[in-house]
Amino acid sequence: MNWPYKHLLSISQLSGDDIRTIFELSTHFTEVNSRPVKKTPTLKGKSVVLFFAEPSTRTKISFDMAAKRLSADTFSLATSGSSLQKGENLKDTGLTLQAMNPDLIVIRHELSGSASFLANKLDCSIVNAGDGWHAHPTQALLDGFSLSQVWDSFSGKTLLILGDIAHSRVARSDAELFSKLGVNLRVCAPGTLLPADISEWPVEVYQDLDAACKNIDAVQCLRLQLERQENGLLPNLREYAMHFGLKADHLNSANPGVKILHPGPINRGVEIQSELADCENSLILDQVGSGVSIRMALLYLFLTRTEQAES
Ligand code: CP
Repeated sequence: MNWPYKHLLSISQLSGDDIRTIFELSTHFTEVNSRPVKKTPTLKGKSVVLFFAEPSTRTKISFDMAAKRLSADTFSLATSGSSLQKGENLKDTGLTLQAMNPDLIVIRHELSGSASFLANKLDCSIVNAGDGWHAHPTQALLDGFSLSQVWDSFSGKTLLILGDIAHSRVARSDAELFSKLGVNLRVCAPGTLLPADISEWPVEVYQDLDAACKNIDAVQCLRLQLERQENGLLPNLREYAMHFGLKADHLNSANPGVKILHPGPINRGVEIQSELADCENSLILDQVGSGVSIRMALLYLFLTRTEQAES
């Protein structure tokens, strides 16, 4: 197929059909991942740099695993132990990596816009693995893919995104992705953790969790980003957990079979009751597994595309 994009910077660049293409390919790679031998030679000779200037477990390992299962070579750069620690800036780090001629760089960085900054400066493909509060497109794709595995259709379904919406790149990317797929969207958060532009999002806004959970088909609980909180946004964690932490009682008015998602890592007992994270309706570990298939699909699309299809 003729994949038209050189970079993956945000969900906003993708159409509903693009998203469905990625899901179809991910279904194929899920089958590959279930084989006793999970390796294919598809991307032999390709070089992928994993540039993670912020901590990560799921995204980094799953990109690494995805690349290696497709026989690409991976090279990791993290802040600790690299020249980033000596103060090297993003431009110089990017140009240094480019001088080694990689085919694709996966970047996670605390600065919103860092992925598009590199895309404008470098020749290789750039995949955004989370930039500040701006976007986490591969997370939204794996969230959508996880629900596609348990739902017959997205149409008519209602998803609640619960928690720290203001600081969440996952909330922004999920809202874009699920609205393109025809899902009804709600968000629920205290007023201090809603972004100033929330009226422009394709969502219904709630500040009462009982009301927000009525007739939902899934809830995405967001991590309370303790490292990104400014003073005064929250009274204290106990009060936040009391009013906005998801508990079993909240789901009594949800639709039967309601699914529970969380991008991870979880603050158990804060944004979600611990037992709920482990219950049979939880898709949290399915999301992690979907992450490998989605990232295999993306690496395949971006590393086998033809240059004339560039956008
Ligand atoms: N969901 C997510 O991005 O997790 P990591 O920070 O562990 O990659």
